[in-house]
Amino acid sequence: MFAMGKLGELKALLAEYKPYIGTAYLTYLDLPATEPPGSTKDSVYSHTVVTSSKDPVFQQIGTRSMRKVAAPRLDAGDWHAIVIFAEVEDASEPEVAAYFWLAFRPQRGLFTGVVNVQLLPEEAYGFDLYVKPEYRRGSLGNYVADIVITDLKERGLKYGYTHLLYDNIASIFWHDGVGFNVAQVFNFFSFGPRIIWKIPFSESPRYGPLSRKGRYNDPDPKPAFGGSLLPK
Ligand SMILES: CC(C)(COP(=O)(O)OP(=O)(O)OC[C@H]1O[C@@H](n2cnc3c(N)ncnc32)[C@H](O)[C@@H]1OP(=O)(O)O)[C@@H](O)C(=O)NCCC(=O)NCCS
Repeated sequence: MFAMGKLGELKALLAEYKPYIGTAYLTYLDLPATEPPGSTKDSVYSHTVVTSSKDPVFQQIGTRSMRKVAAPRLDAGDWHAIVIFAEVEDASEPEVAAYFWLAFRPQRGLFTGVVNVQLLPEEAYGFDLYVKPEYRRGSLGNYVADIVITDLKERGLKYGYTHLLYDNIASIFWHDGVGFNVAQVFNFFSFGPRIIWKIPFSESPRYGPLSRKGRYNDPDPKPAFGGSLLPK
């Protein structure tokens, strides 16, 4: 039996951490076959690529716990963050309007709310695309896609992966518009900043960069495959 104080603490923790079992799509983009969407970006936007935790822009993106996980990975060259700025009237500095994280190398053992991926050198994993609410529906999501796809193609990469919750309508439309296809559907458990991608006894993820098996440990990897997010 918990004393009332402990029970209260537990209730507060559950309220804050909201244990959640969810379903998500793992999606992939066939980079050589994909043209950047060609956003109608305005000259009030600019972007930078953050590759070091010493970059002052780093403190302006993500949550504190995310930055704690991201800092060593940025500094090791495993991750980049694409950050979009918008000019603001009467402000001396442009403000961060959107950002997107990219992982280029395998990451193991993260239960911190960010991806635990296995990748081939020809693959990258993008996650946590975030456009600030006041900038949404202004083509910034597509602006990010333009920058990322152009960059990944120039690096000669073959596949870009992401994941998204199955009921995130805006994200489904964005992914579909950019050209992502579904590699698989999987279940996950999340508790505050902790995410366990594979729920015990569930089949998924069975393959792909979020699983222990996948293209990355196949000596002769097959192409990624799967259908479109929306009916065509
Ligand atoms: C999803 C998100 C990144 C889209 O960014 P955005 O800057 O508003 O997107 P854009 O204006 O570039 O729109 C690009 C396409 O996305 C789709 N889209 C964006 N918002 C949408 C919405 N609310 N409903 C339906 N489709 C939407 C449309 O297909 C749109 O193309 P269109 O303008 O030709 O209709 C943004 O809503 C967001 O940050 N959401 C919260 C965080 C999140 O869910 N991120 C995705 C994680 S996987």
